[in-house]
Amino acid sequence: MNATIKLENVKHFPVLLDEVISIISPLYGGTFIDCTFGQGGYSKKILESSRNKIFAIDRDLSSLKIAKQFKKKFKNRFEFENKRFSEILNTEKKINNLKGIIFDLGYSTTQIKDPKKGLSFNTKGKLNMQMGLNNFSADDIINKLDQREIYYIFKIFGEENYSKLITKKIIDFRKNKNLETEDLVNIINNVKKNKFSKIHNSTKVFQALRIIVNNEISELIYGLINSFKLLPIGGMIVIITFHSIEDRIVKFFLKNYSENKNLSRYLPLKTEKKNLFKLVQKKPIIPSENERKINPASRSAKLRYGFKLNNNSDFSEFLKKFSYLLDVEALGKKIWEKLYYLLC
Ligand SMILES: C[S@@+](CC[C@H](N)C(=O)[O-])C[C@H]1O[C@@H](n2cnc3c(N)ncnc32)[C@H](O)[C@@H]1O
Repeated sequence: MNATIKLENVKHFPVLLDEVISIISPLYGGTFIDCTFGQGGYSKKILESSRNKIFAIDRDLSSLKIAKQFKKKFKNRFEFENKRFSEILNTEKKINNLKGIIFDLGYSTTQIKDPKKGLSFNTKGKLNMQMGLNNFSADDIINKLDQREIYYIFKIFGEENYSKLITKKIIDFRKNKNLETEDLVNIINNVKKNKFSKIHNSTKVFQALRIIVNNEISELIYGLINSFKLLPIGGMIVIITFHSIEDRIVKFFLKNYSENKNLSRYLPLKTEKKNLFKLVQKKPIIPSENERKINPASRSAKLRYGFKLNNNSDFSEFLKKFSYLLDVEALGKKIWEKLYYLLC
């Protein structure tokens, strides 16, 4: 049976929804790009004002079912494209009267609950973690890369203190059979068996794998740069992050290009001002105690936003600052090249 998803039956709680709406509503009366459509929580709320249009993007094809219902209901006020948000400059439809671009990073509850995606520690079977439009999976990373490469991925993307030992155990296990999700969770539990932690033992390794499988670093960096290029002056960019690496990237992007940053207090004050953005507040907005209670998944969310001030766009400093992350992410490209070679 082909079950249809009712708009009312959406299972994902949109994080910081009221805060996002109060930030963007002064710009109402134009098009907003929802770069992470998911279950459509933000888009639905924005479309409640009949003066707005939504251009929605999601890399996960399962969002298409909901997007079709939106199209039926909101007609020419809604468009959807199944693509990665780094490709925001290459949309098939033209976007007019753009007012703001919104990113709600991370994963929807529906994705986490989907056993086929294998995003949760409770999944059984082959490792996966692909959100959509991917070139390789977590199975390729764990079962094909060498010890040093896996170690870097866990260390840099997971900030996992036990990366060395976990990686060694993975390589030993792999001599006999390919690792599946339960095997990886068991290895991590064994390595950490007497260590106290507030988070699940596998959280950091799973975060690292999700980042590399979905190219989350380059997606975010080029998503931000290309959004800046697409926005008109006065337009707004709003980003919600869920882990410290994402937030570091977003914070640097907005702050570094919005204020007269002095490298050292012993150096003379820099006169050149890189004012690409106007920031209304420097500190991120976080969910209220009440929201965290109702939706514990919101607890690590941070919202930052800025208004575009001019068209200067030299982002070389931004790219250089995070090149160490892009270099680790490029290990995934190695797999993709290997797979491609085997297929040819
Ligand atoms: C946290 S959910 C968004 C939930 C949405 N705001 C809502 O209210 O339903 C994040 C969504 O972004 C999508 N996504 C993540 N990275 C993406 C990327 N690089 N390009 C396009 N979509 C992406 C995921 O597939 C997921 O559906």
